Amino acid sequence: MSILSVTGAEKRYGSINALAGTSFEVEAGEFYCLLGPSAAGKTTTLRAIAGLETLDAGRVVFDGQDMTGQPVQGRDMAMVFQTFALYPHLTARQNLEYPLREAGHDAGEIRQRVGEIGELLRIAHTLDRKPSTMSGGEQQRLAIGRALIRRPKLLLLDEPLTNLDAKLRHDTRAEFKRLHRELGMTIVFATPDQLEALTMGERIAVINEGWIVQIGTPRELYAAPADRFVGTLVGAPTMNLLPAAGSDGKVALPFGEIGNGPWSKTLADFPAETELLFGFRPHDIRLAGPEAGPALRVDAKVHLTEPLGDITVLDLEAGDAVFKMVLPEEEAVQYRVGDRVAVEINPDKTLLFARDTGAAIR
Ligand SMILES: Nc1ncnc2c1ncn2[C@@H]1O[C@H](COP(=O)(O)OP(=O)(O)O)[C@@H](O)[C@H]1O
Ligand SMILES: [Mg+2]
Repeated sequence: MSILSVTGAEKRYGSINALAGTSFEVEAGEFYCLLGPSAAGKTTTLRAIAGLETLDAGRVVFDGQDMTGQPVQGRDMAMVFQTFALYPHLTARQNLEYPLREAGHDAGEIRQRVGEIGELLRIAHTLDRKPSTMSGGEQQRLAIGRALIRRPKLLLLDEPLTNLDAKLRHDTRAEFKRLHRELGMTIVFATPDQLEALTMGERIAVINEGWIVQIGTPRELYAAPADRFVGTLVGAPTMNLLPAAGSDGKVALPFGEIGNGPWSKTLADFPAETELLFGFRPHDIRLAGPEAGPALRVDAKVHLTEPLGDITVLDLEAGDAVFKMVLPEEEAVQYRVGDRVAVEINPDKTLLFARDTGAAIR
């Protein structure tokens, strides 16, 4: 059952269309990610849900109630801002107590809940300190604690990890999943980071220029992106994209011709020489085996090697094309820049896009 629905949300700031008809639904208890680049409309969407922003058109329905145009107060939701927005002159404990005092809870209840949140978020040892004396990660957990302490039904998180260092971001992703499991709360999490969205989101809405481009599970977005934008946004290293031409259900590439892809049937109806973009992921390329199989075999030259510890990214040249391939470290050690390498591209895993619109062909 959906607990939150945003329908046809529009918001203009002068000549800027921050939201251009955004629609999506979030299920109760879901960890829902809004993934999009800077200026896509993520913050505006969250602010509209929280009632901090008035929409020019469209509706926000939460928990069965139409919230459009309703005041901020009384919504059973809380928002954590990218900048944390803590009260600097109050201690961590006072920051946590504040929303409960506002809501008129008694002293015993307040003490108990602050204790619980301190334990849950592992900031019990910082409660008597001011935010400026706490680490970035502790401040961030305090900001989340302040949002959670009222036990809202819906938690809106606006890039809460963006201002943390890489190690802390990694650890905090796991923390968020744990919190979500333990609290059973509905979360809408906005991020520009595809890795955060893929690792935490049960479903992801990809947003660009105020539009929802595609909604799906991490697997769906990765395997079947609706267009070139989603295809290159999701997955790291970025999907390889080569200009190509299609005819008769086959695709002509700078290093050969490939058929039997999931797009073959549809492509057969396109005019000959249709301008295409051929997509294949660095993880889906294999070293060629001794026997010829159904995969496209490509003789390439190593242009660059980028060791990343457990894996190595190879930049390969073939024809006048350059593309990336991911290899386990132990297989990659044998290759040097300038070496020849034969690889295979499995047609099943390839993607095709129209060059003019970017729409996926399948
Ligand atoms: N208060 C505002 N005044 C003018 N323009 C705004 C305001 N808030 C957002 N915008 C513009 O709306 C667009 C969407 O912004 P935002 O929702 O903050 O995107 P995101 O959070 O995805 O980076 C951007 O072009 C931004 O510059
Ligand atoms: Mg933002």
